Amino acid sequence: MILAIESSCDDSSIAVVEIESKKLMFHKKISQELAHSVYGGVVPELASRLHAEALPKILEEAKVYFKNLKAVAVTNAPGLSVTLQEGVMMAKGLSIALNLPVIPVNHLIGHIYSLFVEKEEIKPMMVLLVSGGHTKILQFNGINNICEIGSTLDDSFGESFDKCAKMLGLNYPGGPEIEKLAVSGERCVNLPLPLRNSSKIEFSYSGLKNAVRLAIESNQYKKKDIAASFQAKAIEHLVFMSKRAIKKYKPKNFAIVGGASANKVLRNEFEKLSKKFNFNLFYPDMKYTSDNAAMIARAAIEFYKNGEFVDFRDIKIIPRIN
Ligand code: KG4
Ligand code: ZN
Repeated sequence: MILAIESSCDDSSIAVVEIESKKLMFHKKISQELAHSVYGGVVPELASRLHAEALPKILEEAKVYFKNLKAVAVTNAPGLSVTLQEGVMMAKGLSIALNLPVIPVNHLIGHIYSLFVEKEEIKPMMVLLVSGGHTKILQFNGINNICEIGSTLDDSFGESFDKCAKMLGLNYPGGPEIEKLAVSGERCVNLPLPLRNSSKIEFSYSGLKNAVRLAIESNQYKKKDIAASFQAKAIEHLVFMSKRAIKKYKPKNFAIVGGASANKVLRNEFEKLSKKFNFNLFYPDMKYTSDNAAMIARAAIEFYKNGEFVDFRDIKIIPRIN
């Protein structure tokens, strides 16, 4: 079995998987959302302190599996340096105490493998990753064969929901809050479609966020209408750029992963796209859309099979990638 630890942002999570069967033997997550919502976003120092409290509590519950472990996996990049550090310290401790090799896992690869928790890999696949830190279109051909097709020039999709929610006086994380408020709103606020004239596959959310700020400051619109209009435009931008990538690369399989892949309006729009362009559409199970250790453990199985381990002395934390 492999024990995996995730602490890249505001979720403390540990999972144990069986290598051959891919069965999830243990999975627990303690989310810090409530603690950070007072501040309208993640406070790194607070997050790190809460991981230091939560991770050992979860680990104690996983103790029965220690005798079966072949490796310990941990998210080492990207994320907040002070929170990544908490998971990595725990992995190093386990590595020393139980004499286990360490498998460092990139969080973004983890999100791709959220699709395959307790399942076989599906490849090749085009993947739209929409999280709080990233907005990317990736081509996934296997754990060591992932290329980037497009990325955001500024804010990420999830981040733009968090920031607009904050401006609207809503709680953190903003994605689910905006989605809820938008249900009863009308899409009557005129907002710009980002990068309409770009010929590339790329994203930008800072201009849309600014337009939302101006709409709020104009005092002309209801909050729910701003939420509905913003959400529709933010998703239209994802669809616009994804359509360009789909036309160019003609994927048979397309997946949406990351915290924001829970958004139902987004899922609906991509369902329509999948019918029009005739591709198979995949999402993670709802319980694996946001950060969790099950996806890190699942990715670690592939690294384990390839013999890709490191000594605990050689684990590096890489907070920022790209
Ligand atoms: O993947 P994730 O849990 O953490 C990161 O790796 O960043 O993604 C969290 C992000 C937050 O920005 C959150 O507001 C957004 O995902 N999110 C959503 C929804 N649920 C979560 N965005 C839009 N609609 C949602 N329903
Ligand atoms: Zn994430």
